[in-house]
Amino acid sequence: MKREGLRFMKLEIILQCPECRSSLRKNKEAYSCKNKHVFAFFDGIFDFISKKDKKRLEIEFKAQGNAVGNYKENEAYMMSWRNWKKKLIVDKMGLVLDNGCGPGKLSLVIPEGNTIIGSDVSLDMLREAKKRINFVVRAMAEKLPFKDNTFDVVYTDSMLHHLKDPEDGVKEVYRVLKKDGIAVFSETHAALINRKLRRNAYKNREKFSEWHKNFEKKELLSAINSYFEIYSSENVSYLGYMYEGTNRKIPCDKYLMKTFLAFDKIISKTPLIRNQSWHIIVKGVKK
Ligand SMILES: C[S@@+](CC[C@H](N)C(=O)[O-])C[C@H]1O[C@@H](n2cnc3c(N)ncnc32)[C@H](O)[C@@H]1O
Ligand SMILES: [Zn+2]
Repeated sequence: MKREGLRFMKLEIILQCPECRSSLRKNKEAYSCKNKHVFAFFDGIFDFISKKDKKRLEIEFKAQGNAVGNYKENEAYMMSWRNWKKKLIVDKMGLVLDNGCGPGKLSLVIPEGNTIIGSDVSLDMLREAKKRINFVVRAMAEKLPFKDNTFDVVYTDSMLHHLKDPEDGVKEVYRVLKKDGIAVFSETHAALINRKLRRNAYKNREKFSEWHKNFEKKELLSAINSYFEIYSSENVSYLGYMYEGTNRKIPCDKYLMKTFLAFDKIISKTPLIRNQSWHIIVKGVKK
């Protein structure tokens, strides 16, 4: 079901020009700034990406267009998915940015009472996200079209590793968060065991941008630590995620998935092995 929160909010209050950071004015079907940067309304979505950046992102657009169909909803898949996503969610409520929202599915686990804005570069993903989130914008995570100190919580789920310089994305999250606001990052992890599997999985597939990668834990923590006071970092996703990911064509069996998730619980408590996760969730506060 779609969230209602934003229906009564005037978006202009929180927007700014992503190119020059000046205020935006809405005229007819576009936003523009005093420096003549114009951002049009396209397919029901405001587009804050310049022509020049779009050229640079062409490969990403194509890859994401092909990836929209990967988000399945069968019972076993959702079991594994919820198990991971629930761990991202923080208690703080208010205005929430789903940064790199993809098809907007995180809104399924974000509690009622929050107002969610989704942002992503891919029009194909945003068309999906619009079915779940009331307000979405097309924007780059490195140049968010929002004013400083706007959001209470920013979720950045599996997006940072798509950026040429992930730290540019972290810096923007810092800028748009309010003081004491919470930043949550969930990222792909290059652990010792899965590193080769991950590399092989990408080898023959329609490639993302050349800089697409997986993080070493210390690399991710250091990028986030430069801006936020990290209060938790957790290794997540093991066998359940692997089963879900290797079964793109055949639906997963829910009993087998339950077994894998039970093993995952044990793995997550076992020293050393628990470091071999597919993902890492990091939470920090803006001080
Ligand atoms: C692996 S998907 C994750 C989507 C969603 N957060 C989720 O977990 O279901 C990565 C997303 O990042 C988006 N993306 C890639 N480069 C981006 C950029 N520079 N700025 C914002 N989003 C970007 C892609 O379009 C895609 O939707
Ligand atoms: Zn401008």
